[in-house]
Formats: sequence, structure tokens, C-alpha cells
Amino acid sequence: MDFYTKLNYSIGNEDWRVEAQALRVKKESRVICVTASGDRPLHLLMTDCAEIISIDMNRTQNYLLELKIAAIAKLDYEKYLAFLGCTPCSTRLVIFRELKSALSKDAADFWEAHQKLLERGIIYQGRTERLTQLGAKAFRLVRNQKIKKLFAFDDLNEQRQFIKAEWDTRALRKTFEMLINPKLSQFFFKDPGLNSFVDFANKPGTYIYERMIVCLNTHLAKKSPLIQLLFTGKLMPEGYFPYLTYEGYTAIRRHMNRINIITGNIIDFMEHATNANQIDAFSMSDIASYMPQAIFEKLLRSIQNAATPDARFCLREFISNRKIPADLQATYKRDMDLEKKLEKEESNFVYRFMVGEIQK
Ligand SMILES: C[S@@+](CC[C@H](N)C(=O)[O-])C[C@H]1O[C@@H](n2cnc3c(N)ncnc32)[C@H](O)[C@@H]1O
Repeated sequence: MDFYTKLNYSIGNEDWRVEAQALRVKKESRVICVTASGDRPLHLLMTDCAEIISIDMNRTQNYLLELKIAAIAKLDYEKYLAFLGCTPCSTRLVIFRELKSALSKDAADFWEAHQKLLERGIIYQGRTERLTQLGAKAFRLVRNQKIKKLFAFDDLNEQRQFIKAEWDTRALRKTFEMLINPKLSQFFFKDPGLNSFVDFANKPGTYIYERMIVCLNTHLAKKSPLIQLLFTGKLMPEGYFPYLTYEGYTAIRRHMNRINIITGNIIDFMEHATNANQIDAFSMSDIASYMPQAIFEKLLRSIQNAATPDARFCLREFISNRKIPADLQATYKRDMDLEKKLEKEESNFVYRFMVGEIQK
């Protein structure tokens, strides 16, 4: 399936402030995470944890992580944002020459062969981001004034009144129900999380739409990266993820040598005897939504194997509904209050959480 060879994600859509509360990373912690857009491991590099193991089955996602790390290591802050595509730049290929030596041979060869993506600004070149840009163009055709109004609010109460009076319409709801329907989405975007392991079989679009409306009543749109991507196709500086801020960039530069990037199945890695009792925190993104229940249970057992006692776990779910099997419930000590709190605070409204400690 070419999903695991293509560049699917170039910007994350998970709120680090929320992830940090779940993981409670300490100075000596060894953390394992899924690479995807690279945002997760970069945010972990802002902490002073001892080691980050970043794994993805898709080597292209790991090449992107290498590229983002090389840009932070080799470029000053303004040039880093310009190279990634956050700000305009006409010399990205020249800049690429400056940082190519910091890449592995495979990553350098890959980006050498995909210069068009670099030229356009890599941060918007993932298939997910290109699709949302297309969607944003279509939304602007039909509700441009409303979109401008939505991102102008600095007061949440005023935004709430606008959502109720003008934004939340039957037409917009129907659009979400139509687009986020596996029967249709499988033809324009083959993403297992979107169309293979969907448990809200009846109406995933309704589920996502209602979560968006809840989010727009609890978060300013200009502070929600996912809402910005959906309706403008771009990130606004107010919505920059921490690794795109000057503070984040500076913190990451201090911890560059603490990351280990691996291509492979994270379950195989965590099942391996040599990795038993090694890991203090698990940042699993929403891979639970990329597998059936049986493989999810295999994932849980592999985390159990790799975990140190009291290790922290953060599992997200998109439109799937995984269950922790009875024989593992004593091992996975979930913090339901924290899960509810994180679900409310997450500015990218599509996730539910399983967080807590591994009892061993
Ligand atoms: C979970 S999404 C991540 C998107 C996410 N929302 C973000 O912000 O970046 C999918 C990522 O997990 C990877 N993945 C899924 N199952 C995996 C597995 N068993 N082992 C390693 N990587 C996996 C996919 O290749 C993909 O890059």
C-alpha cells in the first residue's frame, strides 16, 4: 500500500501542551514516539529528557524529520521558517545545499529527487496538507467573508455568538458529512485512519463536525492550527506549533544529539526482548486508528513489554473506538479525569485520549 511510502503528513495536528501533560517527561526519561510529521519528536526535543526514539513504518516521514532537524541545526531562525515554507522564500533550493551535509545519505538522495516539494516549502507538501489546502480554496469560494470574520476574533464570547448565528449551518454540516465519509474519501485520499478502521461507521463526518463546533466554542479559531489549515490552508503565527517558535527552535538546538530515528513497525521494536523494561513514556499519536482491534491489543502488549514500571502512555484516537481488553486493564491504569481534561484542551479537535500509567 503506497500510503507507507508517500509523504502523508508535513505538519502535525496534535497539541504539544496537551501531550506534555499526559507524558510528564522527566530529565532521565527515555521516550518512544511515532514520527509522522516529525512534530512530536521535535516537541520532545524541547524537553530535557535523556533520549527520544522516533519510529515510523514510512521512511519518507523519517526523511522529513531529518530535514526539519537539519534546518534547525544549520539555519538561523528566520531562514529556518522561510526554508520550511512558513514565510515567503525564493531560495529554498540554495538553502537546501547548505543543510544537505547534515542529512543521512538516503534522506539527502530522497530530497535531491524531490526538489519540487522543497521549492514550494515542505511544511505544506504532505498529502494531508495539500488536500486541506484544496478544501480551504473551495471553502473560501463559498464562505470567504465568514472565514475572514472567524479568524479576526480575539474574544471567545463574540466568536461563540458568531458560530451560533452565522457559522454553524446545515450546508456546512452536510459538506463535512459528505467529505468525511469513507465511501467517498477512499477515492480521493487513501488514509487508513480516515477510511479503513472507522468505528463511527454511521456518520464520521457528523462526529468530526460536531467536535469542530465544540472546539470553536472553547478555543479561538486563530489559536487552532487544524481549523486554520481546514479553512485557510495555512498556519497563522498565532497558531504556530512550539517547534516553529523562536523559544522552541532554541530549546531543540540544545538537545539535537538525543534523538534516534528508526524506520520500522513500532510494535516489532517494542516487542523485542532487548527493548524490555526500557521506556518511561510512550507518545503513540493516533496509530490506534491505523489498525484493527487485534493489532491494537498487540500494540498494548508490546508497550507493556518495553515499559518501565509506572511508565506514562498517551494514545490518541481519531474516528476509531479501540478497547483495552479485560486482561490488560490492570496494566493500563487510565486517568479518566485527565483524559477528559485533555480532550477539552486539545486545540485540534479530532482526538479522544487514553492516558495513564503502566502498572508492572
Ligand atoms: C498516526 S498518523 C500521525 C499523524 C498525526 N496526526 C501527526 O500529527 O503527525 C500516522 C503515522 O503513523 C505511522 N504508523 C502507523 N502505524 C505504525 C506502526 N505500526 N509502526 C510505525 N509507524 C506507524 C504512519 O506511517 C504515519 O506516519
